[in-house]
Amino acid sequence: MRIKVLGAAAGGGFPQWNCGCPNCRDVRSGALSARPLTQECVAVSADGERWFLLNASPEIRSQIESFAALHPRGPRDSPIAAILLTNGDLDHCLGLLSLRESHPLVIYATDRVRRGFAEGNVLYRTLQRFPGQVTWRALEPGKEADLGGLAVEALPAPGKPPIHLEGSGASDPGDNIGLLIHDRRTGRRLAYFSAAAAITSAMRTAFDGADCVFFDGTFWASDELIVLGLGDKRAEQMAHLPVGGEGGSLRGLAGIRAPKKIYIHINNTNPLLRPRSPEREQVEAGGWEIAYDGMELNL
Ligand code: MLT
Ligand code: MN
Ligand code: ZN
Repeated sequence: MRIKVLGAAAGGGFPQWNCGCPNCRDVRSGALSARPLTQECVAVSADGERWFLLNASPEIRSQIESFAALHPRGPRDSPIAAILLTNGDLDHCLGLLSLRESHPLVIYATDRVRRGFAEGNVLYRTLQRFPGQVTWRALEPGKEADLGGLAVEALPAPGKPPIHLEGSGASDPGDNIGLLIHDRRTGRRLAYFSAAAAITSAMRTAFDGADCVFFDGTFWASDELIVLGLGDKRAEQMAHLPVGGEGGSLRGLAGIRAPKKIYIHINNTNPLLRPRSPEREQVEAGGWEIAYDGMELNL
């Protein structure tokens, strides 16, 4: 399985347009030897010919341009066979509206995420310009969907509905999922959980059986935004388990057997973005890598 990280940042990207936090300030000035990051999106393929995008970020156009394997091979063509959504957050879905140039799209999502995006959304009409412009395929926990060469299964992950749908009903296990992607030929397994408020035992089992895990690296600390004066919510209130601290994912996942472990969906405030920070050293000592735009893996 080929895996290409097209975007490794959380919503807002790095630097974020309205952010003057130390990380954003220093990456702009060049004081921080780190590269900017676009918002989370990963491409996977079994054969290097047909590609699947995990989430559709607002920066999808430049992300597709950044990777030649995703370029058209004819006058109207795309090697993108389908897009898989892990939740309805705008940093995962807005890019769909940018793919409106009259190209048939196949989108895999839970029923809950599909409805949250497509129902009552007048902008969605731009993807209904001709019959069959979008084919939705349901991701149902416990049911493997055949992607041809690859198979995918959704595993509910503790999370929440997107901010614009908060308060419009009870939360649902279909609000937020991880993707278990299995290469049928090689047997290799990828577990992709870019947003998770907690670690369930089913997630732990999946991580033990995976060759590679991507996990929510949004915040290092629970009070990261509060301490920086940038917000009043703790990480957990935003449904992101922090990486550091007693209850953080670095400790929580210390025992998992997956040989490759990568944090993704990194918020621009996160000290993990600073190359020699003590936080980054701690994470690397635990066997984790930090995703970056352009990162490539052959699983
Ligand atoms: C999140 O990851 O919590 C969301 O992307 C936040 C947002 O939609 O702004
Ligand atoms: Mn996000
Ligand atoms: Zn910032």
